[in-house]
Amino acid sequence: MARPNVLVTRRIHPDALHMLQSVAEVDLWTEDRPIPRDELLRRVARADGLYTMLTDRVDEELLEQAPRLRVVSNMAVGYDNIDVAACTRRGIPVGHTPGVLTDTTADLAFALILAAARRLVEAVDYVRAGKWTTWSPDLFLGYDVYGSTLGILGLGRIGTAVARRATGFGMRVLYHSRTRHEEVEAALGITYVDFDTLLGESDILSIHTPLTEETYHLIGAAELSRMKSTAILVNTARGGVVDPMALYQALKNGTIAYAALDVTEPEPIPADHPLLSLPNCIVVPHIGSASHATRRRMAIMAAENLLAGLEGRQLPYCVNPEVYTHPSH
Ligand code: DGY
Repeated sequence: MARPNVLVTRRIHPDALHMLQSVAEVDLWTEDRPIPRDELLRRVARADGLYTMLTDRVDEELLEQAPRLRVVSNMAVGYDNIDVAACTRRGIPVGHTPGVLTDTTADLAFALILAAARRLVEAVDYVRAGKWTTWSPDLFLGYDVYGSTLGILGLGRIGTAVARRATGFGMRVLYHSRTRHEEVEAALGITYVDFDTLLGESDILSIHTPLTEETYHLIGAAELSRMKSTAILVNTARGGVVDPMALYQALKNGTIAYAALDVTEPEPIPADHPLLSLPNCIVVPHIGSASHATRRRMAIMAAENLLAGLEGRQLPYCVNPEVYTHPSH
């Protein structure tokens, strides 16, 4: 029997690649940049399985070019790059990688909290520039993380893992989420509040909500104006949750004190973007899950999803399980 064709849109961990190559003909995009759209559309025409990154858009246009496609596997927990409803309509299951990157991403969120509050990036730049001539009583004064109030927007796996870290820093933790999680409240001693209270009381606001039509620009000028002038905004979720120009104005005018972003809109953020001109804004290039161990686990998990799809088994981590009862399946 002919082996299935799989298109992999970036170089992935060799262990995951070997898993795919053991059962399929793998068409691997090897360049150090996302596969260009026209190339993706051309190559997907032969694909039975598509292994994607968050930089690849899977939409109606792509699916129309992919008559053989039986499974889409995204090497990310987020899947806002995929039109899941369109996949479901065609009976195509979509896989993602929940769980394995939770603590790695929470670590990065906490690193950004500390870096922003204690102005680490500014301080490192200062030393590297040879400006450190003496100790000064008012050099790089920042804000205490311990004992402060952390607001978590979106109490999913990663939001919960950030809350757990915060308890070790003696922080008061508030959260707002679509659903209330009373068991987590009891276990971690954290408090559910409405959105306005979260904005108004947080010293640090950390975003952990997925990007959807409802959360697009959820943090804009009005929301920023309700935050403390000493507040720090941290985003390790998706750039589109924050209106970037509203954030720029808020940081420039002192509406809030600081921002630390792992994700931006657009992404990548251009080097001449106004946000990058501000000393009180730190941006890192979407590295939330970027540890050696976690990226390997994500790659393997995405390979497991893809292989299950090729074999007609239910994906272990399926975004649209309703596909299995959909008439087109
Ligand atoms: C995800 O998985 O959605 C992250 O943003 C990248 O690891």
